[in-house]
Amino acid sequence: MVLKVVKYGDPVLEQKTEPVTEFDTPELRKLVDDMFDTMYAAKGIGLAAPQVGVTKQVTVIDISAGEEGGEKLVLINPEIVERAGSQLGEEGCLSIPGFREDVKRAMRVKVVAKNVKGETQELDAEELLSRCMQHEIDHLNGVLFLSHLSPLKRDLIRRKIRKLQKAGEW
Ligand code: NI
Repeated sequence: MVLKVVKYGDPVLEQKTEPVTEFDTPELRKLVDDMFDTMYAAKGIGLAAPQVGVTKQVTVIDISAGEEGGEKLVLINPEIVERAGSQLGEEGCLSIPGFREDVKRAMRVKVVAKNVKGETQELDAEELLSRCMQHEIDHLNGVLFLSHLSPLKRDLIRRKIRKLQKAGEW
């Protein structure tokens, strides 16, 4: 089921999320399935639970955006345990549509997370996958990519969004 993606301005995007404590439940499986449906419908490569209004530590990722052979990743209660190098690249967010900016991220990360069954997985990622994981894990801490921009750029985007909100176009 495709859910509504919450947009910037909704306080749920800037709240901290709660860890998942019950695994392998129909509710958790449905949330994850719905998040994949929502992400693919929006042609995104990652989605975090707060973006569908759920303050839980759940993210889904598929950097192929649903292409055949793509890998579906589910990261629950994820934690970045190692970071190395750096990369600068363009980033966007389904909750901030129409805005893309260069964001500096670690080139490589090691992430420890649970899957839907509650099994612990350790994932090594680099380049785009690493960027995507960092972006989604930020969401679980109430942090948006705007926070990584210079104050000047951030204010410019905020002003543009405020105009769109006033015009009822957001
Ligand atoms: Ni995002």
